[in-house]
Amino acid sequence: MENEIYSLLKNEFKQKEIPVKDGISLILNDKFLRDDNKKFMDMYNWMSHGYDLVESVVGKIKYGDMINRHRSAMMSQVEWKDNSTVLYVSIGTGKNLDFIPKSINAKSLKIVGLDISFGMLKQCNKKHGRDLNLSLFNCAAEGLPFIDNAFDIVFHVGGINFFLDKGAAMKEMIRVAKPNTKILIADETSDYVDSQYKKSRLSKQYFENKHFDLSELEACVPENVRDKKLELIWDNQFYILTFRKLASQ
Ligand SMILES: C[S@@+](CC[C@H](N)C(=O)[O-])C[C@H]1O[C@@H](n2cnc3c(N)ncnc32)[C@H](O)[C@@H]1O
Repeated sequence: MENEIYSLLKNEFKQKEIPVKDGISLILNDKFLRDDNKKFMDMYNWMSHGYDLVESVVGKIKYGDMINRHRSAMMSQVEWKDNSTVLYVSIGTGKNLDFIPKSINAKSLKIVGLDISFGMLKQCNKKHGRDLNLSLFNCAAEGLPFIDNAFDIVFHVGGINFFLDKGAAMKEMIRVAKPNTKILIADETSDYVDSQYKKSRLSKQYFENKHFDLSELEACVPENVRDKKLELIWDNQFYILTFRKLASQ
């Protein structure tokens, strides 16, 4: 792990040796590993080998260039700056890293990616570990191992709808972001969950009896943020929620 990233860890993690496997730091706390978190961790571990392939083949057949365009639109809303320290919560296989705007020198970024699925992180490391300054952590979004006010950029894409504790994850993202940071959270709407995930042969067993309510997610955004904005994209199948941490928090 780069020294700079090590310095962002809470003391309790600096004091003990963090186990590392395949270049990934293992800090998964059992307390977050139950119910939906456990179920979706298992699902993504299982899907990790084919995740990118399914998106690029099946996604392309079904939606043409739409997925790439909407990933690119999302990433353009992040406030990128060269040399920033970036936290990507639920990085998965790191697909969105391909959509960092071309005006940014991606190699100058210190990127920390975390995910509850070791399998997804392994794929991410294979793809991006050599080209980018990337530190990967196997941990849950609900309990981040980093100190307060550590990151210039914080964003999450694609998992929060079924996190064990969405409110805790949001508070953690805000806590570790530097004051004034714009935080971006994006995921599928219930339209997409119902019409795709509940129907697909690959995923339907995991989404049976699951319901996602966007207003419940919005209610998890703490009062003490500013510039809160909710946008629906891709024919209302995806949402992008953004807000800014206060200057004095
Ligand atoms: C749909 S994938 C999105 C991956 C990536 N962000 C993308 O856009 O391709 C959702 C990701 O959320 C992760 N995830 C689910 N629950 C999590 C949790 N509680 N904490 C951290 N990551 C979680 C999954 O392991 C998976 O990699």
